Amino acid sequence: MSKEISRRTFIKGAAAAGVVVAAGSYFTWNGNNIPEKVKKGDITYDVLIIGSGGAGMRAALAAAENKNLKVAVMTKLVPTRSASTMAQGGMNGVTGVSDPTDTVESHVFDTIKGGDYLCDQDAVEYFAERAGANIYEMDYMGYPYNRQKDGCFHQRKMGGHSHPRASYFEDRAGHAMVHTLFEQCLENGIDFISECQMLEISMSGEKNDQLNGVIAMDMRSGNLIGVPAKSVIIATGGYGRVYWIRTSNPYSSTGDGIVAGMNVGIPFKDPEMVQFHPTGLSANGVLLSESSRAEGAQLKNKNGERFMEKYAPEKKELATRDIVARAIATEIEQGRGVGEGIHAGVYMDFTVIPAERIRERLGQVADLSKRFAGVDITKEPVLIAPTCHYSMGGLEMADFHTGESRVPGIYVAGECSCVSVHGANRLGANSLSEVLVFGHTAGDGAAAYAKEHNYAGSQDKLAQDCQKWKDRFEEVTSRPEGCGKTVPEIRDAMVNTMWYKAGVYRQEDQLNQATQELKALEEEYKHCYVGDSSHVYNTAFEQYIELGNLLQISHAIVQGALARKESRGGHSRRDFPKRDDKNFLKHTLIFKDQKTGEYRAEYKDVVITKYQPKERKY
Ligand code: FUM
Repeated sequence: MSKEISRRTFIKGAAAAGVVVAAGSYFTWNGNNIPEKVKKGDITYDVLIIGSGGAGMRAALAAAENKNLKVAVMTKLVPTRSASTMAQGGMNGVTGVSDPTDTVESHVFDTIKGGDYLCDQDAVEYFAERAGANIYEMDYMGYPYNRQKDGCFHQRKMGGHSHPRASYFEDRAGHAMVHTLFEQCLENGIDFISECQMLEISMSGEKNDQLNGVIAMDMRSGNLIGVPAKSVIIATGGYGRVYWIRTSNPYSSTGDGIVAGMNVGIPFKDPEMVQFHPTGLSANGVLLSESSRAEGAQLKNKNGERFMEKYAPEKKELATRDIVARAIATEIEQGRGVGEGIHAGVYMDFTVIPAERIRERLGQVADLSKRFAGVDITKEPVLIAPTCHYSMGGLEMADFHTGESRVPGIYVAGECSCVSVHGANRLGANSLSEVLVFGHTAGDGAAAYAKEHNYAGSQDKLAQDCQKWKDRFEEVTSRPEGCGKTVPEIRDAMVNTMWYKAGVYRQEDQLNQATQELKALEEEYKHCYVGDSSHVYNTAFEQYIELGNLLQISHAIVQGALARKESRGGHSRRDFPKRDDKNFLKHTLIFKDQKTGEYRAEYKDVVITKYQPKERKY
């Protein structure tokens, strides 16, 4: 058996079983969470990536092609536990083999139409031209694709696509991707700094534009570490936990990188563009992949009506996510759903799909439904409802050819960034391709920057910033019981505000209320009760930091949503139900004042190349 095949077989086994690859004896990762040289302060990284998801690890691989560069990935988890691991349906790219009639041009158009014309069209062209090559590249790395009888990748058609173009491994596409990339990172000698909660990007200089490195808390010991770096790539993923249990994201998706980026002057672009995936389990938001509908699952209301025929007569369940999510929310609101409040839902019926196909292609969906809702989907329908899944917005990528932000030395990639490829609504399976394309680009960009610049940061400032966080830790964790609300109390209030007043549907009076409620919560946060003052794995402190970030993200979402007086993609205003290209064919940019913390909005025109906006019909 060739090396290639045995590696592929290994990864496939690991992905299917859900084991941590690094735990095996196959690789050299020794399980220490921080390399000794980092602990001793003996290393300045050329490229330091924050986030070990698909974007972070793809960026690391690109940077490490420059053998003389020192490259590290920092993560608050252990590598392979990122949100990318939870991506299910696939990764898009025109491969030229599975469906020879598909073209890059169609991929470009589907993406722009799906994004309700808020996509920068030059960026989408750059993306789609490279997405197919990524499918092949992952194949060479050992990705265990589901294949047709002729050996070509099998590709499935996700919502809003005109052709089947999502390559995948079962319904665990992200899991297999992350393991494949991690293995390559280990083979290429990339350092991992894991279980370290990033707290701040340290800057100095008169204009505060000189990068020093990154401040993080080593969760295993509670020590504060300052890691010097010439360039930093922020690849920390999304912030679905703004909606707490109505999200498909892991608990770790708390927008840490976006807030750290805003704190150093990078604007948060299009924060109001939140994607609600139509099919999360109604019980708890856990994702049931869109590939369910790609394989034929049908949506039915409590009367057994296949209601998507009414909302999207042509594409039905495979209309874009924004349309399907709103249709479900409307059915529930108008009394045709099942259950009450935050757990109300409609049915997704898999019994129309042969059980054999479910086993072959939807194993994880079947497993999740059984474990988290107690339903055997081969026998009965399961209750689902919209769940926050993705942020189309993120830190502005100032140049998509390099991945750079507008702050020198800082690059962005993946869900925490906004390129903007997805516009107002991302198409299924465009995310994994995006992290590969722009992770690669950002890795190249940061490496080029590191080669052209000497380290000019201040190690003294790094040490001062560590001390500042140490003091903050002591102050926050020593507050007496009763000093204020607890972190979970504030978080639960934030979630109620965000789900009911800035969720699938929005309107001015509710958004105004949300603004006031968030302001009050931000005040309460300043003197909240954290409780645990221990140093080893103090998750109470970590959750306190994450809540601070979620509050800031919520604030930006609501501010962007209030100002955008139109409905477009995932942003749906009841009081402005139509898209308004005359006034809003533009991106929101929210800047945070580095002294006062106040937010200020600017706008930037959308880049149109070939496709003039027109009404979307599915
Ligand atoms: O439904 C899904 O499988 C999700 C895929 C994606 O967000 O790209």
